[in-house]
Amino acid sequence: MGTSTVTVTPVTGATGADVAGVDLTRPLSNAQWDSIHQAFLDHQVLRFRGQHVSPAQHLEFARRFGPVQRYPYGNGLPDFPDVLEFSRNPGDARNFGGLWHSDTTYLPEPPMATMLVARELPPVGGDTLFANMYLAHETLSDGMQAMLADMKAVFSATKRYMEEDRVAVHSGNALKKADEGVTTEAVHPVVRTHPETGRKALYVNRGHTVRFDGWTAAESEGLLNFLFGHAERPEFQCRMNWEDGTLIVWDNRCLQHFAVDDYPGRRRVMQRVTIAGDAPA
Ligand code: SIN
Repeated sequence: MGTSTVTVTPVTGATGADVAGVDLTRPLSNAQWDSIHQAFLDHQVLRFRGQHVSPAQHLEFARRFGPVQRYPYGNGLPDFPDVLEFSRNPGDARNFGGLWHSDTTYLPEPPMATMLVARELPPVGGDTLFANMYLAHETLSDGMQAMLADMKAVFSATKRYMEEDRVAVHSGNALKKADEGVTTEAVHPVVRTHPETGRKALYVNRGHTVRFDGWTAAESEGLLNFLFGHAERPEFQCRMNWEDGTLIVWDNRCLQHFAVDDYPGRRRVMQRVTIAGDAPA
């Protein structure tokens, strides 16, 4: 049982923190877990260096956050179906997740968190960007906040780029097509209230949001593009690099992320566990 003191160091003024003083290959004490959970709520995305966790230890840590949820398009590892491995291989046209999004928001209950472990990295590059959607909401005008407050939007798994991401470009991944019995569309609030912090967060994302509920796609396009661009402003972001043994966990309820594809011709392999969430409200 770990007894050391957890230290939390912010990565930028907007979001993200490095967490040290824990060994995730060993059970956490309740005090360590309480510190990590509070840091997760305060900083939204946490990076742990030097954690050479096995898939079983990866799952054990994920389950401290809550029950795990499988990626609907993926087949997990043979012995650990809840652990999705995805890779970008030298011949692939592009990477997985190279667009601003929050994970699987086309599901009625999208995962509250995602926990990623680096298994193989390119010599340089392959960072992940995160953007804080509390800040995105807080920095909108009172008038815009009032207009968005009661609006809903349609989220789809079949938005072109993300669809191609899954079915076309990943030579190494066993990903399914959209028509293979997967829920592909959901309606969620444009602004959601975080169930643990009570803070409001902008929830539309470029990867999955196709239109406002009750509006046509053409009517929605202008305002959605404004909100996507606003959400992606650099002052809401942090950039996380990966090293051998880095584990990162992020809160999908109040963040978007973007996997940077700056390592063509190289290989990057990650293992991912998603933690079940609630219906956004
Ligand atoms: C993702 O889950 O969208 C991928 C993130 C990454 O590979 O950095």
